[in-house]
Amino acid sequence: MILVFGKNGQVATALRERLPNALFLDSHEANFLFPEQIVALLDSKKPKVIINASAYTAVDKAEDEREASLTINAKTPGAIACWCKNNNSTLIHYSTDYVFRGDGDRPWLENDETSPVNWYGETKLQGEKAILESQCAAYIFRISWVYSPWGHNFPKTILRLAKEREQLSVVNDQWGAPTDAHDVARVTSKLAIKLEKGEQCPAPGIYHLRFEEYQTWHQFATSIVEKARQAGEELKVKEIRPVSSAEFPTKAKRPANSRLGSMYAKELFE
Ligand SMILES: NC(=O)c1ccc[n+]([C@@H]2O[C@H](COP(=O)([O-])OP(=O)(O)OC[C@H]3O[C@@H](n4cnc5c(N)ncnc54)[C@H](OP(=O)(O)O)[C@@H]3O)[C@@H](O)[C@H]2O)c1
Repeated sequence: MILVFGKNGQVATALRERLPNALFLDSHEANFLFPEQIVALLDSKKPKVIINASAYTAVDKAEDEREASLTINAKTPGAIACWCKNNNSTLIHYSTDYVFRGDGDRPWLENDETSPVNWYGETKLQGEKAILESQCAAYIFRISWVYSPWGHNFPKTILRLAKEREQLSVVNDQWGAPTDAHDVARVTSKLAIKLEKGEQCPAPGIYHLRFEEYQTWHQFATSIVEKARQAGEELKVKEIRPVSSAEFPTKAKRPANSRLGSMYAKELFE
């Protein structure tokens, strides 16, 4: 059986279309604030493959909610990984570009040194470490700038603002690659089905997934607005002004270079 945590998140919602026979649990059925309850739940369900799409993803709020975000992003994933090790199950888990310090302009590779610049990144890194320390069979997919038709994400915010305002200001000094949740779901579901059937799979480990071109948030916003106009949407916006991160202060610092490159992910796409 394939069990997916985080039923209503962006990635898990995309996974639901591709894994109709998997068991999807939401945050009420499986609350990551209580790792021992999650372990008891795994004891009762005994899944062969676990996909962890649950996470504390509110980057700025995490600076204030340190304990809760650490439990959800690190302690509970670590407990799940230990359960996998003891029960011969495999874990697929998602991590983030925010584990890197974000300087330079070279894409970060899987083996590069990690050094998060904010608490959310720190909790996700601690999650990776706890999973690796368990020595279970685990695939950790680092992804960046996730968007989908559901939940909270950048394209939805830009389109809402573009309908309300004539001028938008968007940062133009942070680089990364947007990631459609459907692309993540395609790669994940293919792997999960193979693992469940006991078929040959790429080796467990950390993989960087990138599907789209590197760009800044400003470039991404511009293309979102262009595509919406081409699709016939009525938008009020006349100008999208490029601004620096310094002009747009946020509670949690963001890495300037969030480009993910990969040495290994090719095998996952074959
Ligand atoms: N979004 C991004 O830009 C981005 C970038 C890089 C990496 N990632 C990683 O990719 C993965 C999937 O991200 P996403 O964008 O799909 O996330 P998302 O849409 O924010 O969904 C997160 C899910 O986690 C669940 N969750 C929150 N608190 C929980 C708790 N206490 N117990 C159990 N579940 C809880 C939420 O449930 P409720 O809906 O019930 O609250 C929600 O279903 C995460 O590991 C994230 O760190 C995301």
